[in-house]
Amino acid sequence: MQSAVPQRSQTFDQAFVDTIIAERTGRPGALLGILQKVQEHQPAQYLPTAVLEYIAAKTAIPLSRIYGVVTFYALFSLEPQGRNSVCICRGTACHTRGSRDLLETAMMSLGLAQGQDGEMEALSVTTADGRTTLRTVACFGQCALAPVVEVNHTIFGHMNERSLLKELGALDQGDLLP
Ligand code: FES
Repeated sequence: MQSAVPQRSQTFDQAFVDTIIAERTGRPGALLGILQKVQEHQPAQYLPTAVLEYIAAKTAIPLSRIYGVVTFYALFSLEPQGRNSVCICRGTACHTRGSRDLLETAMMSLGLAQGQDGEMEALSVTTADGRTTLRTVACFGQCALAPVVEVNHTIFGHMNERSLLKELGALDQGDLLP
């Protein structure tokens, strides 16, 4: 993975996490909601180990279960994320409709090095300037729309190289926060 401006850090806003846990505990889907809010609050939009351990201790939810949730949902990340996120589905339906070509196009357009075949299947890589993170996902659950790409949390179905390049060209290129 390339080095990127968003740096790995174990720091987090403990008061914010305490507030979110207090608000959500006892509600249906509490853990998902807590993890989502905490990740959104993190400067580089990811969940460092220290915050997962803290949530486990405060909620009495086993750390292994929390890791299970974080690694199951494509929404969560254990690595610092760029300001923009691009996620390309590599599930069977999308693969048969050309998602590998879309992935190669995205990598080339973003200036990311091509990996080995295995690396291309489960990818999370951030551009050297820290602006964009490109990831793959096993399935968005929107197979009828294959091939599917998510750009900054918006799902695009029936994607082709031209429409993908258009979305990549519209990504936020503004200054990064210090
Ligand atoms: S395989 Fe791509 S959305 Fe299901």
